[in-house]
Amino acid sequence: MKFFLDTASIEQISKWKKFDLVHGVTTNPTLLSKESSDPVKVIKEICKIVNGDVSAQVTERNSKGMIEQAKFLRSIDKKKIVIKLPCTLDGIQAARFLSDKNYKINITLGFDPAQISTFKNINISYFSFIIGRVEDFGDSNISNIPLLKLMIKKLNPKIKFLAASIRNSSQLLSAATNGADVITVPPTTWDKIYKNKYTLDGEKSFMESWEQLPNDVRKKYEIKK
Ligand code: E4P
Repeated sequence: MKFFLDTASIEQISKWKKFDLVHGVTTNPTLLSKESSDPVKVIKEICKIVNGDVSAQVTERNSKGMIEQAKFLRSIDKKKIVIKLPCTLDGIQAARFLSDKNYKINITLGFDPAQISTFKNINISYFSFIIGRVEDFGDSNISNIPLLKLMIKKLNPKIKFLAASIRNSSQLLSAATNGADVITVPPTTWDKIYKNKYTLDGEKSFMESWEQLPNDVRKKYEIKK
């Protein structure tokens, strides 16, 4: 299983790379719009610092435009760029054309395992199955994960199940334990996981006890400064 970072922030990529949590990056138009610089420059910079696949999403709405834009986006880095296309009929048409030309494809906004049906003979690398966006509305897509895995197995086992839109540790664990090949995690979710309230409170209470000891006793145990 791999972890991708769901962001376009160079700062966040550099930070989480140090913890081995950036095996690739997924971007989308919203994430790019949050960065203050030119989106092409941002994608170029991401490709420079990431050793793995970098998803760049099309902003064109019809298949012809998507194909043209995909050609341009791939030229940024032929090895790393994965073209991200929405799971619409236009997106699927573009995916068919581009996969025949050996482009790496990430189909996004996947909400229903039945959407895999059209990918028997289209070589897509990733199918992004959205978790958090569904749970935001009080529904759940977690129970559909086994069905998605089964559909992939039956139709085209080469497709990687990419769990996306991960808001918290429970969604991450459900994706991981139900067989996600890749989980793309926003930096805010890693922050929540590693700024765990109980871990931070526990660390603070250990230190408060330690400071009750006389200085000269503590010094025997501590490193010399
Ligand atoms: C998926 O393709 C997107 O990049 C992302 O995971 C969606 O996350 P959001 O629901 O937080 O926008």
